Amino acid sequence: MTKTPFKAPLITFEGIDGAGKSSQIEALAALFRQPPVITREPGGTTLGERLRELLLHQEMTPLTEAMLMFAARREHLERVIWPALQSGQAVLCDRFSDASHAYQCGGRGLAGAELAALENLTHADFAPTLTFLFDLPTARAAERVQQAARAKDRFEQEQSAFFERVRAAYLARAQRFGERIQIIDASADRAQIGQRIAAIVRTRFAAWLRDDAL
Ligand code: TYD
Repeated sequence: MTKTPFKAPLITFEGIDGAGKSSQIEALAALFRQPPVITREPGGTTLGERLRELLLHQEMTPLTEAMLMFAARREHLERVIWPALQSGQAVLCDRFSDASHAYQCGGRGLAGAELAALENLTHADFAPTLTFLFDLPTARAAERVQQAARAKDRFEQEQSAFFERVRAAYLARAQRFGERIQIIDASADRAQIGQRIAAIVRTRFAAWLRDDAL
């Protein structure tokens, strides 16, 4: 994977279910001079949201799951992410291909070579500019998922061993792509996490932020 050729950044947010990414995406967006595109995967397009429904609720094999994740991703890239970056708009995306490595390979046991083939087909030579990996013990994350007053999806229903593997796969990617992937201690309180994220974005993308956010 090489660096994005676009001037505008794609910033992605990753972590196991219950890591607390969503509120931080909104908080970061508020610091931008021009409102960034806020989007998510799987989803972000009409087709992508329909695929999301299937992915979250319909039983399927690991390879099918990965293929549908990447089908949704390609649609998202062509229709939303690349046009926004092309026009100079920053994009904040809740999950991207690191999630496929972590969940489909780490969690489900799909072969790395199969995932790499799908990734190359979908977005060879393109990667997020910066990625925040929200890391916390799986037991803490499970408590947060438990507290959410909504029915659990197919992923959230998985056992702790699954999330241990997902977490380990995420951390292995952070080791490998240390420049791009910043590990955030997601067990800290919300304000501290927000400050840490803002500090990192300030050092890399100061020109994108409002003067009072610098
Ligand atoms: P997410 O939007 O974070 O869930 P929620 O809205 O419940 O917080 O992600 C949906 C689920 O999809 C999540 O459990 C992780 C999974 N997922 C994958 O397995 N592979 C992928 O490539 C992506 C993008 C998500």
